[in-house]
Amino acid sequence: MPINILAIESSCDDTSAAVISDGQVMSNITATQEIHAAYGGVVPEWASRKHQTHIVPVVQSAMEKAGISLQELDAIAFTRGPGLLGSLIVGVTFAKGLALALDIPLIEVHHMHAHVLSHFADDPKPEFPFLCLTVSGGHTEIILMRNYLEMEVLGKTIDDAAGEAFDKTGKILGLPYPSGPIIDQLAQKGNPQFTFPMPVVEGLNFSFSGLKTSILYFLKKEMKKDDQFISHHLNDICASVQRAIVNILEKKLIKAFEVTGIREIAIAGGVSANSALRKTLTKTAQELNWNLYIPKLELCTDNAAMIGIAAWYKYLEGIFSDHSVTPEAKYSKIY
Ligand code: KG4
Ligand code: ZN
Repeated sequence: MPINILAIESSCDDTSAAVISDGQVMSNITATQEIHAAYGGVVPEWASRKHQTHIVPVVQSAMEKAGISLQELDAIAFTRGPGLLGSLIVGVTFAKGLALALDIPLIEVHHMHAHVLSHFADDPKPEFPFLCLTVSGGHTEIILMRNYLEMEVLGKTIDDAAGEAFDKTGKILGLPYPSGPIIDQLAQKGNPQFTFPMPVVEGLNFSFSGLKTSILYFLKKEMKKDDQFISHHLNDICASVQRAIVNILEKKLIKAFEVTGIREIAIAGGVSANSALRKTLTKTAQELNWNLYIPKLELCTDNAAMIGIAAWYKYLEGIFSDHSVTPEAKYSKIY
C-alpha cells in the first residue's frame, strides 16, 4: 500500500492542497486570492479570511482528483512558516484538526525548504549536493542542499526580496499586485534601454532596496520632463528593471558556483517563473557547464505539492510534529 500524505499550504495568499503517494504528486490544487490586486500588496486580514473560505473546497478537490479517501491518508503535512501568521493559522489549525480526527501523524514543513524540494516533484531531479537560488516574494537566498533535509543558507538578501523588487516597482508604475508576472509580460515587448547601478554587497548576499530607490528617482526625473514618461515607455522600463534584477541574481549565482565548485544548480520560488531569469540562466549554464534545474511553472509559485514532497522525505525519516505545534511567522528550522 502506498503512503498517502495530504499537504496544505497557506503561508501567504494562495490556498493549496495536494496529495502525495509514495513521493509522487497525485493532485495539486491552488486557489489564488485575486482580492489583493487592487491594494498593491497582500492585505493580511483579507488573506486569512480568504483561506477560511477556500480551504475546505480546495482540500476536497485535491482528495477527489487523487481518488483517495480520508481513511487512506497516512499523514497530514502543513506549512508551519515562514509566512503571514493569520494565513498560517488557517492551514495549521485545519491540519491539526484533521490529523486528530483521523488519528494520523502531522508533519510540519518549512516553506522555503519546500520550494527547494519542489525539484523532487518532477524529473529531472538534481543530485546532491546542489545549489538552489530561491527567489520569492519574501525570500532571496542561495541555498546549499547536502541531502533532502540538510539545507545551508550561503547568502540572502539584506533588505528586500527579488519578488518584492518586482512588486514594489510595479506599484510605482501603477501595476496591480503581484506585478512580477505583469512586468515579465510587458518586458517581452520592450528594450532594456535604461540602466540602473548594480548594488555592492559582500559575499553571496543580495540587496534590492537601492535598485528600488534608483528606479524611483529615475522616474521622478523623467516625469518632470515628460509627465507621460511611464505610459510612453512602460515596456522599456519593465524590460530595464527586469534586466537589472536578473543581473543581480545571475552575478551572485555565478559567484556561489565559483566559491563552492558545485555545478548542480537549481532555481525555485515565484520569481523562478520569470522568463528572462530562466533564459539568462539557461545561457549561463551552457557557458559554464552547469546542470541547471528549472521547475515547471506551477511548481514555481506557492503550491502544496512542494509541501507534500518535503513532508514525504521527513516521513521517511520518521520526523513528525505533536499536536501542540504552532505556526511561526519567522520559522527557521527545517526539522
Ligand atoms: O513563491 P511565491 O509564490 O510566494 C512567496 O513565497 O512569496 O512568490 C511570489 C512572488 C511575487 O513577488 C511575484 O511577483 C513573483 O513571485 N513572481 C514573478 C513572476 N511570477 C511570480 N516575478 C517575476 N516574474 C514572474 N513571471
Ligand atoms: Zn513561496
